[in-house]
Amino acid sequence: MIFVTGGAGFIGANFVLDWLKQNDEPVLTLDKLTYAGNLANLASLEGDARHAFAQVDICDRAALDALYAEHRPRAVLHFAAESHVDRSIHGPGAFVQTNVVGTFTMLEAVRAYWSGLAGEAREMFRFLHVSTDEVYGSLGPDDAAFSEVTPYAPNSPYSASKAGSDHLVRAYHHTYGLPVLTTNCSNNYGPYQFPEKLIPLVIANALDGQPLPIYGDGSNVRDWLYVGDHCTAIRAVLAKGRPGEVYNVGGWNEQTNLTVVKTLCQVLDEISPRSDGASYATQITFVKDRPGHDRRYAIDARKIERELGWRPAETFETGLRKTIEWYLANGEWVRQIRSGEYQHWIETHYRNRDAAHPAKEGA
Ligand code: NAD
Ligand code: DAU
Repeated sequence: MIFVTGGAGFIGANFVLDWLKQNDEPVLTLDKLTYAGNLANLASLEGDARHAFAQVDICDRAALDALYAEHRPRAVLHFAAESHVDRSIHGPGAFVQTNVVGTFTMLEAVRAYWSGLAGEAREMFRFLHVSTDEVYGSLGPDDAAFSEVTPYAPNSPYSASKAGSDHLVRAYHHTYGLPVLTTNCSNNYGPYQFPEKLIPLVIANALDGQPLPIYGDGSNVRDWLYVGDHCTAIRAVLAKGRPGEVYNVGGWNEQTNLTVVKTLCQVLDEISPRSDGASYATQITFVKDRPGHDRRYAIDARKIERELGWRPAETFETGLRKTIEWYLANGEWVRQIRSGEYQHWIETHYRNRDAAHPAKEGA
């Protein structure tokens, strides 16, 4: 069986659901169920004997040891993290705790377990660490995209804590020979993404008739990848990646935030028009920028294509449409989240972000 940490979150849940669609190898999901973890994401697996869930904090070594002893996994996919840049600016402590101390604790538990394996079980064991392109810092408009040898230059508490975790993972391979794999991926979007992140926030706010907040002038660039493509990349790295190697994963799809939001509005106008006939783009509002906001991310994903034959299957158009259709069909999932702790976050984070210059209709 495999272990998936953070499997009740956005990418982890997509991964678990995809995994069990592709094969019957059982999964144990390990998740603390923070504000971002949601068992409803895995509800379709209820009663499925191939899936089990353990509520556990990745900083809890004793709990991890007990799970390894009981289940003896052949691989661990490590998604669990504090993942939102804005929250890391408001409160960096949890990011250091989970992303650095938690990953360290995972590595120690895995090292103890793997050291006790012999023969093929030891040979074939893998620890796959899911990381981010943000560890490479920020690019200028004409800079080459991030490759696996781009020096680390993290700029937010989130990316610094992820960079710390990447370094620990690397060191456990170099020092102890632990068979690790690391993926550094660009911005994901798709079903089950918590509506604090740009794309689900904009979809939910648009449908609720609320402002669509764009930081600064909206010209920051991200490289967007549909979450299902990230899942296939991770499966490819797990199956065929070389231990100790890093694989960058990206969508070959750089977009400014303003383009992303306008495209979302266009698709919504088409498939779920406002009752007054106006475009959702009239709700766009420019707000105070994120402190230290990285200008541009871009991933050079040639290594994973060359070595493992992976390329994204979705285009931005097909992926966005699928995503919007999922949010339209899952209004109750969104409502449940937006009625809880989420309200407090939105109040705290957006209340004092004065609108800078509301966009004109059709902007
Ligand atoms: P998410 O915030 O949606 O989910 C994180 C999950 O981890 C939640 O289920 C949460 O309950 C769990 N978790 C948090 N702290 C924990 C702890 N101490 N112990 C156990 N579980 C804990 O995050 P996501 O967007 O799904 O990201 C998953 C991983 O992918 C993260 O490592 C993130 O850095 C990385 N990543 C994300 C993106 C993206 O665009 N979302 C892109 C590249 C890489
Ligand atoms: O690049 C990979 C990273 O992508 C992951 O490692 C992170 O876990 C994930 O959260 C994401 O980070 P970003 O900060 O890029 O994602 P976010 O959705 O928060 O923001 C995307 C862009 O949109 C960014 O430039 C900030 C901007 N933005 C975001 C919000 C929430 C806005 O303009 N308005 C908003 O309200």
